[in-house]
Parts: sequence; structure tokens; C-alpha cells
Amino acid sequence: MCGIVGYIGSKQACDILVERLEALSYRGYDSAGVGVFNGGEIEIVKTAGKIARLKEILSGSKPQGTMGIGHTRWATHGEPNDINAHPHPDCTGDIIVVQNGIIENYRLLKAELIEKGHRFKSQTDTEVLSHLVEEYYNGDLKEAVKRALKRLEGNFAVVFMHKDEEHLVAARLNAPLVVGLAHNENFIASDVPALLKSTNKFYILHNGDIVSVGRESVEVDTFFDRSKVDFKKRNISIIDWSVEDATKGDYEYFMLKEIHEQSKAIENTIEGAITRGGRVHLDMAIPEERLRQVRAIHLVACGTAYHACLYGRYILEETLSIPISADIASEFRYRDPLLTERDLVVFVSQSGETADTLACLDLAREKGALTIAVTNVMGSSITRRADTVIYTRAGPEIAVASTKAFTSQQVVFLLLAGYLHDVRRVKKAKENMREVAKALKNLPEMMGEVLKSEGDCKLLAEEIAEKEDCYYLGRNIDEPLAREGALKLKEISYIHAEAFPAGELKHGTIALIDEGTPVVAIMTQDAVLEKTVSNIQEVIARRATVYIITRDDVKGLEDFARMVIKVPATHRYITPILSAPPLQLIAYYAALKRGYDVDMPRNLAKSVTVE
Ligand code: F6R
Repeated sequence: MCGIVGYIGSKQACDILVERLEALSYRGYDSAGVGVFNGGEIEIVKTAGKIARLKEILSGSKPQGTMGIGHTRWATHGEPNDINAHPHPDCTGDIIVVQNGIIENYRLLKAELIEKGHRFKSQTDTEVLSHLVEEYYNGDLKEAVKRALKRLEGNFAVVFMHKDEEHLVAARLNAPLVVGLAHNENFIASDVPALLKSTNKFYILHNGDIVSVGRESVEVDTFFDRSKVDFKKRNISIIDWSVEDATKGDYEYFMLKEIHEQSKAIENTIEGAITRGGRVHLDMAIPEERLRQVRAIHLVACGTAYHACLYGRYILEETLSIPISADIASEFRYRDPLLTERDLVVFVSQSGETADTLACLDLAREKGALTIAVTNVMGSSITRRADTVIYTRAGPEIAVASTKAFTSQQVVFLLLAGYLHDVRRVKKAKENMREVAKALKNLPEMMGEVLKSEGDCKLLAEEIAEKEDCYYLGRNIDEPLAREGALKLKEISYIHAEAFPAGELKHGTIALIDEGTPVVAIMTQDAVLEKTVSNIQEVIARRATVYIITRDDVKGLEDFARMVIKVPATHRYITPILSAPPLQLIAYYAALKRGYDVDMPRNLAKSVTVE
């Protein structure tokens, strides 16, 4: 939520800031702004609307200078207008700040500062920061920021600039922030991809870090009490993502590019994990003995990652024969879950920064449970808090709608199931996990095959795009896919969509089915195929228009479905992974047909760092 950037070097800061903000715009896009020191004073240019609007304004004249900070906003406090856009100055205009996160005690601080004579212009929580630092400033920006941060309650990443000091000061607490290191210039940003064009060397900041970033030097310190925290020197991380990974290339939208990257993402995720004989090897920092003692596994995540957990629940349950649960993080954290040192909790988060998921991880640790993080982002907060990490190696996912991260998360659940099956010496699993692992090796190629259905998915999507409602059905391991299909359609095409276990519809929702209501059924599982056919007949009897995603060896569904999209027949644990791209493409082309900006759906932002 919100993207922040900073630059100090020898080039024109304004151009660099705007370019990097564009790369961060998936984090929020309801207003944007920059503040640049022009040699005499700090000039701020900010506006409601997307970065394109800011660029338009700057095309007239732009602040000249080699040090500045910028922001792209996802509004929390105060509507998205020009005044509430960041950066926010103090009373004098000498100090400015950009922030990501929420200052929970801002109303108290604001009242106190107004009492002291500070004049506020915006309705944001952020503005208290510049005034608080103004209050404490005594010729040393870093010291003033440190004092100010100690008074804050909430989660934040912030960057400050003072017109009399040749460095930027940034800090973080439960919101991501990185420093990019280059020759005679340095950068600050909310994430790594935004800076890949300039460097692959980073300090990935930790909670409590405060950093002073000059042209030639960077100093990392902590704003916590040093005697109370274990503050170690930060190492430089070399990131192996390429610039191409973080740009659209020839694609119109990141989402389509990322849908097409799924073969590669899966290939990278399984690389080195499966032996010829089908054994799974994972680098786990949890001793095998502890894993053998586990009596229940809990899967926790939000949104699309939660759907991956629902898929994982089926697989792990059938493989390990112990209780497996899947929970939405924002609920799990408030229901006092029964966890002991014999419970294993798996947290799934593409970004590794989702506030609710991180809060659940802390809760699980407090209760002594074993914890695994599944994430796509090296150095993200989740990687530092879990006992061990499994990476989805999908490369940067930039579109707000998650695609390649989802299928990579499904793959990780298959790997985890195979691994735990061996470690726990399970005698009898429902499926032969060696066979599953061997089939998984062919998945990247099959993903390529599935994408050949793109034209059909587009036709199907263009029909759905005319409607206001759509229903998705599935049974067994296909059911989480129905949910994911509905979420994708809702979030980017704004068509009302709901997903149901196919057998559940007749318990109420079937009342909504009417002439021409689109129903998309995912049907890849033999054991429940005929049952789903019966459910389909029930909606057809109510004059619904039915579309089916199934395996290419299933015959006869064309007789009653308006369209059938086929995925390669393979192991039953893998077909629900192959069903994801058609669902993603349907949502993509429906949104496109309706004329929406696919990568920047309204009201959303990637990486939800607030509760
Ligand atoms: C939907 C989507 C979201 C995320 C959710 C969790 O397309 O992307 O539902 O899946 O916000 O995000 P992460 O995985 O970063 O924790």
C-alpha cells in the first residue's frame, strides 16, 4: 500500500523519481507527488490521480535538483485529493516526508502539535510526521527523526528530507523498504523491482532500521533502544532478478505477461527439488524429528494465497493423514487458535509483507508452533520471522491480480506434501507421491500447452463481459480454483462473481440463476465428475449458460456446455494447477473488453501492509 522512493546522486532527481514511481504504482495509484531540493528550497509537485497526471503537470516545468523523494498513494486517511497527496511539508517547508503505512496515534499527536502552534493542511496521518520532526529538529535530521519515530504507534516506512542536509533519512516498521546502492548515487524504494534498472545491490531494511542515505555513503542504524535489540550490521544483498523481469516488454499489461511466465515460474520453483526417482528435497531449517512429531498443520494466508492454501489442504490431508486446516489470516489472528509446539503453521504470501499474515505468524510463534513461510520475495519481512522459508521462484509479480505466484504456490504445496510424506515415513497416502513429483517435472511444458487455449478463453470472456453476474463451480480439489476464478473476475472486471462447491448451489444460491446467467465449472476430478455434471444439469434446467474447464481426455461435455476449455490430462493433483491460466485469461479478457486498466484495478493495491 503506497509506494515510496528517494534519490540522491548527480542526475536530475525528478525524472528518476517519477520513473521509479511508475514501477511502484501497483502499490497505490490515487495520487502521486515528488519533492526535490533545487539548491535553495524544496519544491513539491503533487496531484490527485495516477502518475500519468503527475507527468503531465511536470511536462510544463519540473523542479531541478539531484536529491528528492516521491510517493504514489493508496488512500487510508483523507480522500485522494491534491492536498492529501504526499510529500507533506512541515510549517516552514524545510522538511518533507513520504510515508507508507498508518500512524495509529496521529490524532493525539496532531492535537499536541496544533497546541504548540503547528499549522496542518491535510487530513492525512502522515502530516504529523513532518511537524513532529520540525518540533525535534536541532541541526541533525536523523536524530530528530529517531525521536519522532519513538512516539509513533502503527506500522510505517518513511523517507524524510531536509533542505539543509545532503542526505535522506528513511526508516521502517512492518512496511517494506530497501536501499539500492550504486556508484555515486543511492536510492530508496518500497521494493526491489523499482530499482533494478539502476542496481542489483541492496540493503533490505529490517524493522527498527533507520538509514541515512548520502551520495556516496549509507549508514544503517536502529531507532529502537540499542541495548534492547540485537542490532547487527546489515549485509548487502545481491538480487538476481533482471530488469526485463520487472518491465512489461511487448505485453500491454503486466498481468498478461505474468500469465505467460507461468511455465518459467514453475520450472524455477521446482528446480533442484525433485530427484530422478521422484523424491522431493527441500532446504528446511526445521529438524526432521520435529516435523515427525507434528500432529496438525494449519495453512494461513489472504486472498489468492488463501486459495492456494485451500488447494494445499486437500493435498496435505490426503498425503499425510493428519488434520489440516486453512484459514484467512485476518480471521485466524483474532480467534485464539489452539496451537502448541506440535503444530506446524504454513504462511503463504507472495509479497511476504501482508500485515494480517505477518501478525498470524507472530501469534503462532508466541504459542510455540513451528512456522514455515512460503513467499516470492527474498528478504521480505516474512522470511525473517518464520523458522524456515520455501521460495516460489516466480520472479517479480507486478500486476495487482496475482497469477504466476498462485500457481507457484500450488506447486510448493505439492513439493511440501512429497517432502513431508517421506520425512514422516507415511505408509499409505491416497496417491503415490513419487509419481506426483515425476509428473510435476512435466508441468512447465504442459503450462505452455494450456496457454494455447488463449483464443477460446478470450471468446468466452467476451461473452461474460456483457453480464453483471457470474458463478463458478467446482468440487474437491477444483473447488479452490472456482474461488480463484471468481476473485480474478471480480477484482479486475468488476463483474459480480461468486464461487461455490457445485453441490452447495441448490441450498440457496440457485435461486439467482436465470436465463443466460454464466456459470463456469471446473471439472478435472474423475471421482466427482458425474456429480458435477448433475449440478450443471440443474443450472441448465434454470436456463444458465454453462462454460466448462476440464481435461482433454474427458468427452461429451460439449453436448450441453456452450464452450469447453481443455487442459492436458495428467495426475489429478496437477490438473487444478493447469486450470488456473484459463481462469486468469477469462478475467483478463473480460476486463479488457470492458475497457478497464487491468494492472490497476480500482480500490486495490498490491501488498496489503495495513490491517
Ligand atoms: C488477488 C491478490 C490478493 C493477494 C492477497 C495476499 O489477485 O493478489 O488477493 O493474494 O492480498 O497477498 P500476499 O500473497 O502478498 O500476502
